[in-house]
Amino acid sequence: MSKHRLGSRDRTEELVCQELGHQFISTDVMGDVVEGETNFYSSAEGYWREVPPTVDGMLGGYGSLSSIDINGSKAFLQKFIGQGEGKTGTTCALDCGAGIGRITKRLLLPLFSTVDLVDVTHEFLDKAKTYLGEDSKRVENYFCTGLQDFVPENGRYDVIWIQWVIGHLTDKHLVEFLQRCQSGLRPNGLIVIKDNVSYEGVVPDEVDSSVCRDLGIVRSLVAKAGLRIVQEEQQMNFPKEIYQVHTLAFR
Ligand SMILES: C[S@@+](CC[C@H](N)C(=O)[O-])C[C@H]1O[C@@H](n2cnc3c(N)ncnc32)[C@H](O)[C@@H]1O
Repeated sequence: MSKHRLGSRDRTEELVCQELGHQFISTDVMGDVVEGETNFYSSAEGYWREVPPTVDGMLGGYGSLSSIDINGSKAFLQKFIGQGEGKTGTTCALDCGAGIGRITKRLLLPLFSTVDLVDVTHEFLDKAKTYLGEDSKRVENYFCTGLQDFVPENGRYDVIWIQWVIGHLTDKHLVEFLQRCQSGLRPNGLIVIKDNVSYEGVVPDEVDSSVCRDLGIVRSLVAKAGLRIVQEEQQMNFPKEIYQVHTLAFR
């Protein structure tokens, strides 16, 4: 969620970008522009290597929104987890695109016995080890890899939390990653995406090498992965000038 991605765009700009966005993201769909796809990932890695390992760095200068975000996520997740028939367990969660562990620290470790983190930026995972403090004892794994290559262990996770990172995956890789996540779930497990959504279409961001998709496109990629949405919510109380942020839970 770079500052750039959060920046407001008027609708005209978004519609102009839409065409470009489809060309860009569809490199993998066409399957024949491999070089473009390689650059998409390596440019993003280069971008994140230059970002300071702080909450403000994770949120593109909007560190002050972290508490509102975490409180919204907690209220959302608490509808599902707990004891009893059909409830999502609290044994183990996976934080995807975890960065320094902002979400692990304030949302996942307080609710789950153990947490794993996965992120492509080594420096962020290193920082997480100190940032998480005492509770880092309950982190079992720090996986340093891109989500496009990551294979969650079968049946390990009650919740797989994927926040502010799907824009770094091509459509094809996102669908395949979600399918692998489904295999990584425990019974009654849940996958959650929380991310920016564009007004319409796919908006590319050349600064951090990502895209922002509209809600319909995100829903259709979830469906393409064979998953069913069980809850959807918009994060409230965020500034008007940034992209809307939506949370989708599915299994
Ligand atoms: C906007 S930050 C969000 C961090 C964290 N989810 C949060 O909300 O605090 C995006 C994170 O995604 C990571 N990232 C970027 N591309 C990735 C990829 N292909 N696979 C895994 N992580 C990636 C970056 O290193 C960075 O930590």
